[in-house]
Amino acid sequence: MEPSQVAIIGSGLIGCSWAMVFAAGGFKVKLYDIAQQQLTSALETIRKQMKEMEKAGVLKGALNADQQLALISVCTDLKAAVEGATFIQECTPENLELKKKIFGQLDLIVGDSVILSSSTSCLLPSKLFTGLKHVKQCIVSHPVNPPYFVPLVEIVPHAETDPSTTERTYALMKKIGQSPVKLNREIEGFVLNRLQYAVISEAWRLVGEGVISPTDLDLVMSDGLGMRYAFIGPLETMHLNAEGVSNYCERYAEGMRLVLNTFGPIPEFSGETVQKVNQALSEKIPVVPKALDARRKWRDECLTGLAKLKTQMKSD
Ligand code: NAI
Repeated sequence: MEPSQVAIIGSGLIGCSWAMVFAAGGFKVKLYDIAQQQLTSALETIRKQMKEMEKAGVLKGALNADQQLALISVCTDLKAAVEGATFIQECTPENLELKKKIFGQLDLIVGDSVILSSSTSCLLPSKLFTGLKHVKQCIVSHPVNPPYFVPLVEIVPHAETDPSTTERTYALMKKIGQSPVKLNREIEGFVLNRLQYAVISEAWRLVGEGVISPTDLDLVMSDGLGMRYAFIGPLETMHLNAEGVSNYCERYAEGMRLVLNTFGPIPEFSGETVQKVNQALSEKIPVVPKALDARRKWRDECLTGLAKLKTQMKSD
């Protein structure tokens, strides 16, 4: 049987990652971009990464790197790129006008069954899709960088998205080995970034008020909270840290509220605290491409190891 086909619009960091995730899942992938040169270098990046992962024994999927590479083709013609695709994942720069233009173009050329999905990190479906003829087929599938190693995908429908679009997207994400979650309605920051910003906000206040150093603040997460959060979320943590959630609330609600009442206002993220945090981090990782890239590579290796461990420890 011919493998199903997907189209990826935009071949930057996230577009390449999606292409690799879909190829690992056995899908034929058409990668579209505006410039042939960008596509050539995207293909080369993908080839290099797949070969490295194959060598390291961490390539995903049942096919080898050459077989997966053979599933990916590139194209600078939008109509040809989406022809035959059952799913289109848009990965262009985070710019509302540009994305609206692209979805407007897609709206004119697609049929009634393909899913039009956006990787946007923070543009709301109501801003992206309102007024499109195919709005029922539109959805946000927000990945986490790097999607190849961090499987979460936030699925966010427009108010007019057909429930079957949400279900099909959810099933597809599962099929390619990602970990989808459904939002019942759109909300600024979706869920992942709302949680992330809550953490960043309090981290910033604590460092800004001189309660803790930037380096120690990061350790609280990497050697403390983060250890368990890679396996269980905050709600299950409550459940396990007492005799169930109800008991946790009986025991700790008052204490939590006391602490939460001492949280300060939303930080400005400017001035002295920026300098303080930047100085501490720059001493550890100088802001030059070589040092940043080396640390990112190390981070990705850690995530690969963690992904392996999570598979071994899977409990559901
Ligand atoms: P990027 O800048 O690396 O790649 C964007 C690509 O789109 C480039 O290859 C560019 O040539 C292409 N492009 C520009 N105009 C185009 C057009 N009219 N038609 C087709 N392609 C066009 O951006 P990145 O980081 O890959 O982000 C893509 C999307 O993914 C954004 O919406 C971003 O918010 C989202 N995202 C990014 C994450 C990240 O950590 N980088 C994480 C999760 C989502």
